[in-house]
Amino acid sequence: MTTTLAPDALDQIFGQARSNHRFDDRAVDDATLRDLYELTKLAPTGFNAQPARYVFVRSAEAKARLAPALSSSNREKTLAAPLNAIVAWDSRFFEHLPDLLPGRDVAAYFVEDERIRAAGTFNAALQAAFLIVAARSLGLDVGPMTGFNAEALDAAFFPDGRLRSLLVLNLGYGDRSELRGRGPRLAFEDAVSVL
Ligand SMILES: Cc1cc2nc3c(=O)[nH]c(=O)nc-3n(C[C@H](O)[C@H](O)[C@H](O)COP(=O)(O)O)c2cc1C
Repeated sequence: MTTTLAPDALDQIFGQARSNHRFDDRAVDDATLRDLYELTKLAPTGFNAQPARYVFVRSAEAKARLAPALSSSNREKTLAAPLNAIVAWDSRFFEHLPDLLPGRDVAAYFVEDERIRAAGTFNAALQAAFLIVAARSLGLDVGPMTGFNAEALDAAFFPDGRLRSLLVLNLGYGDRSELRGRGPRLAFEDAVSVL
């Protein structure tokens, strides 16, 4: 049976949740990371292709590798966060399709570079959105960012060129004391048509 989530749950995932880059001292443990992936992996993707790959950055060594790729306005808060996630897309994601989409041969669809890039980035972005919702569902706060030099990040983390970064997220248990008010959202009438 499906039903609307309880108001508290909706509030945790949507109403109260913010893009947050400041966190308290609590670490994000490995069991929570596994729970996070187990929810995120259920995101729908075209052809069930699941092009997103996730690198969790927690050690001082890995953070030092990440730091030079970050924009100056994102660097300090990203290094201070208990955990960062790099969401990348696998430029050869279609090689997994025989396992992920058994019984259908769609190899002929993924021959053009532009089609591969479009499907890979679109679906990985969708998976990143699910990661944010999954993290909020587990009580984490998330700060997504595209303010980084993707070429520099890819050289530092994905030197063989197969994975390509899309998004960096700060993750932890949020400290909301310095959050500004939420930015306005478009009204239903301004964003939605019902035909
Ligand atoms: C794709 C994307 C890129 C973003 N890039 C940055 C960034 O580089 N630095 C930053 O501080 N916030 C960044 N943000 C956070 C947005 O500014 C924030 O999600 C938006 O203002 C809504 O805020 P709210 O979730 O608190 O309502 C990014 C968010 C998204 C989804």
